[in-house]
Amino acid sequence: MEQIAKGVWKAVLGEPEELTPVYFREGSIRSEALESMGEANLPEALSRLHYEVTVRGITVTISMSTTEDIYGFGLQLKSLNQAGRKRRIRVNSDPPADTGESHAPAPFYVSSAGYGLFADTFRYADFYMGTSVRKGVSADKREVNQKHEEFSESALYAFKRTSEEREIIIDIPGAKGITLYFFAGNISEAVRRYNLFSGGGCLMPMWGLGVWYRIYGGSDQVKALSLAEEFRREQIPVSVLGLEPGWHSHSYSCTYQWSSMFPDPDRMTGELRSKGYQVNLWEHAFVYPAAEFYDDLLPYSGSYEVWNGLVPDFADPSACEIFGGYHEKNFIEKGIGGFKLDECDNSDYNPSNWSFPDSTSFPSGMDGEQMHNAIGVLYQKLLNRLYRKHGKRTASQVRSSGALVAPYPFFLYSDLYGHRDFIRGMASAGFSGLLWSPEVRSCVSGEDLLRRVETVVFSPQALLNCWRIPNPPWKQVDTAKNLADEWMENSEYYTEVCRRYLSLRMSLLPYLYSAYMEYYLTGRPPVRALVMDYEKEERAAQIDSEYLFGDSLLVCPLTLEDGTERTIWLPEGRWHSFFTGEILEGGREYTIHADYDEIPVYVKDGALLPLAQPVPYVDENTVFQVRIRSYGSGEGSFILYEDDFTGLAAEKGDYNTLTVTRDQAGKITWKREGKEPERYQIAGLWKEGAADGEM
Ligand code: GAL
Repeated sequence: MEQIAKGVWKAVLGEPEELTPVYFREGSIRSEALESMGEANLPEALSRLHYEVTVRGITVTISMSTTEDIYGFGLQLKSLNQAGRKRRIRVNSDPPADTGESHAPAPFYVSSAGYGLFADTFRYADFYMGTSVRKGVSADKREVNQKHEEFSESALYAFKRTSEEREIIIDIPGAKGITLYFFAGNISEAVRRYNLFSGGGCLMPMWGLGVWYRIYGGSDQVKALSLAEEFRREQIPVSVLGLEPGWHSHSYSCTYQWSSMFPDPDRMTGELRSKGYQVNLWEHAFVYPAAEFYDDLLPYSGSYEVWNGLVPDFADPSACEIFGGYHEKNFIEKGIGGFKLDECDNSDYNPSNWSFPDSTSFPSGMDGEQMHNAIGVLYQKLLNRLYRKHGKRTASQVRSSGALVAPYPFFLYSDLYGHRDFIRGMASAGFSGLLWSPEVRSCVSGEDLLRRVETVVFSPQALLNCWRIPNPPWKQVDTAKNLADEWMENSEYYTEVCRRYLSLRMSLLPYLYSAYMEYYLTGRPPVRALVMDYEKEERAAQIDSEYLFGDSLLVCPLTLEDGTERTIWLPEGRWHSFFTGEILEGGREYTIHADYDEIPVYVKDGALLPLAQPVPYVDENTVFQVRIRSYGSGEGSFILYEDDFTGLAAEKGDYNTLTVTRDQAGKITWKREGKEPERYQIAGLWKEGAADGEM
């Protein structure tokens, strides 16, 4: 093994392929940040790693202890702790069961044994995480007359730790070699090292953290503008307005030319921008014959079509130049803030021509199998590079993703829709550098809408995807009635609650921006599973219905199925209810009641929490009026980051820090360092037990 940075090692086994995630990695390893994390060693067990190259491919084995917990593998909607499971790293929008396949599987895991492992491949790889025992290991097991419970269905399928040592098997058919990267440290450190190895967390523009609203697919330019006005009039904060397929003159596959429903797109974009909106455009990567650059792209695309469109070979620089150059000139230079790349996720389920076969060949030398795991990643790389070229950050969406994507400010979303699974995604995605959005889409009732809005407000991206309905869901959740402009009976109540939660999201922006800046600087994900911060507490290992949001908030959402009650578990220490101030002692479970318009959120004892006066949107002139909430006593601090919120200067260290500190005596002070203009004004202080505004 060769050490390539502090805490990061590399092992080249056999003859690895050339076109891999590291080959295409955009950023460079953030060596300084890795350096500042200090010394770390890999566990001794890794020195017993074996590999074998056969006609099938390459297989690597690593020993695994009976107590090891495993997390990661990208977005995993069906399970969190992967010990004892087999994970298949294959992009698939419709996984039939908990196989590991998802919109964004990644060949990266982190183990409680003190390391993380990344297998540098776009191939479909299988990871057997202690599921397998070699012949002979069981030879001396001779007891007979097992207890009856062993045969019960629940006992058979329950999560089991084993008594014998096991193996992790990494099986990559089709490859004659693999480069493995190892990241030392506990779960949180290994994840941070993986993210810093990827290039660090993304620089997210502040506006991307505001509220997103995707409008009805059948809307024209007039309707888009009138909805934008309605939000401002009704004081519903919205930062990003997303257009759906109808803006293309042909979509599925795409022309990337405005349809007749949008006769003057530049004027529309200008008007929306002047009202504080960023515009996001839906698209496919699949290029329709009527698209302007179809002929140019023809030689740089795959050997199969999707929806009669070309599949660009994003591994080929010429394809990137043609597809990217068109986007740059026609959209980026005209003020479009970002894109939503849809249906790039290898659908197995849909009939007809939704995807290209694994046998597809691409001019770069990639095959269809590799491209399925790569297309979303390479698209992010291309688009991110184009925005950066113009000195801007984008905030965009993508429906497939995978390895080494932490530096890309893209949110991942899905067409699957289980609220419970979406919450689990919040805990699982953060292990592998992914930003998951549990978008609000169709809802069966007003209560369902509230539950989903509550979750989305405490998520990486606060998105309402209303592509099926012309009116906001708080007016009507039923699609047919919404289309007929019929409102729900209690629409005013739902509007009020949604306005309250979306405004809360805007209040949380300075806090969240700090969490994202930390992601950028240190690799620590802004949204995390509990086990990442509380690894020493045994219960944390399995918690997948709660998650950490930023530095000090713990979120326990409810779903419609939960009704108004759920069990929560809190780690050791005192926790303060964000909404009521009630104090709970951690290290145990509670059964909590929460009405449909309430979400249980807890603040860690000792926290300093900045909350802004809500703004309807964020632009380059926004100055937040921030109140600091102080929880508990003792020394504490919180850093707010001030910069232009949209450009790349922060990468050169061009930002202010505004550090809020509480000393032993409970006195709170703040200090600004740097030269950027002030973006936050401390407008007040709230201490538990003190009257509002008392310092
Ligand atoms: C879906 C996508 C939706 C919406 C729709 C438009 O596949 O997930 O969010 O964009 O396509 O046709």
